[in-house]
Amino acid sequence: MLDIQKIRADFPILSQKVNGKPLVYFDNGATSQKPQIVIDADAKYYQEINANIHRGVHTLSQLATDAYELSRGKVQQHINAKFAHEVLFTSGTTHGINLVTNGFASILKPGDEILVSALEHHSNIVPWQMLCEKTGATLKVIPMNEEGELIMEAYDTLLSENTKVVTVNHISNALGTINPIKYMIDKAHAVGAAVLIDGAQAVPHLKPDVQDLDCDFYAFSGHKMCGPTGTGILYGKEAWLNKLPPYQGGGEMIKEVTFEKTTYADLPHKFEAGTPNIAGGIVLGTAIDYMNEIGFEAIHAHEEELLQYATKRLLEIEGLKIYGTGKNKASVISFNIDGIHPYDIGSIIDKLGIAVRTGHHCAQPIMNFFCIPGTIRASFSFYNTKEEIDLMVEAVKKAQTMLS
Ligand code: ALA
Repeated sequence: MLDIQKIRADFPILSQKVNGKPLVYFDNGATSQKPQIVIDADAKYYQEINANIHRGVHTLSQLATDAYELSRGKVQQHINAKFAHEVLFTSGTTHGINLVTNGFASILKPGDEILVSALEHHSNIVPWQMLCEKTGATLKVIPMNEEGELIMEAYDTLLSENTKVVTVNHISNALGTINPIKYMIDKAHAVGAAVLIDGAQAVPHLKPDVQDLDCDFYAFSGHKMCGPTGTGILYGKEAWLNKLPPYQGGGEMIKEVTFEKTTYADLPHKFEAGTPNIAGGIVLGTAIDYMNEIGFEAIHAHEEELLQYATKRLLEIEGLKIYGTGKNKASVISFNIDGIHPYDIGSIIDKLGIAVRTGHHCAQPIMNFFCIPGTIRASFSFYNTKEEIDLMVEAVKKAQTMLS
């Protein structure tokens, strides 16, 4: 059991008022709030050891380098990567996915196929479309059903010897569906395809084990798991990272440069050109420590309780429909109310202190599937409470009355 009041005290932002009302923050799918220990770690880096990394022999540079590499090791352990050099620091999930799609530009050719799921965020659609434009490869879509679950029979049929890449999110940002990625990875490997998992919405809720999953790439962001914005990780299997060309050229990613020829540095530096977000990378390690201290089993149990409670309470509202009703779901609820635009509900409940996301959630194909302009999305974190859900339900009812 989590001591929620103690946990909430770790997050200074949660005790403030917004529009004169106590803040109820249910936009965790967009970004999580940060505990004081993370905020302090950022200041401490700049106050005590700020220096560029992997470059100087001076003491501060060594300290900063050690802290950065220590954090890489924490991520390695957290996701159970085989080697630390399989863990690349990025600016976020989008960066990680683009690094991979850029690499595949020199591998794919016309006739090759990329399978993308119907549940993807734009960041896991557009880079693959751009790759298809460059290479002549074809993008095919793994369809979903009315519950917002991917249809595995259709997936099995789509897979063939032409499939070179399968890309799918671990958890849908718009609906909360948890996808059967282990099954999908095994099936893709059986036809020789590589698999990228977009873990952006998964890492706040669970601890991925990349060796057990056997995925080829796993991309995620730090800011959704209590870490700083502008941080992220791309895990890639060593063999793939050796095979892919660098994403950006610049300092730190080279072994030797002459005007005739440049040779690239070993992993992970080959993919980490330029001065990185040093503070962010270090502080991401602090965030991971913080979440592990709370414990992902306890986080899961609490969030599951919130999901069940919120689903039941919201369904008491007449005319309310939930999108994403699959069996396996994270603590995300997307909904609409008959005859009312989601934006109008979102704006009114914001005045009552409730922060939710409204719109297409950067997943327009999902909205098109349901023939809706968007939804109201409440996404819960381990620091949220049932009392906050009650406040949201009352606020939504009030908005409904005002708008009807
Ligand atoms: N991808 C983030 C979300 O779903 C921003 O809100």
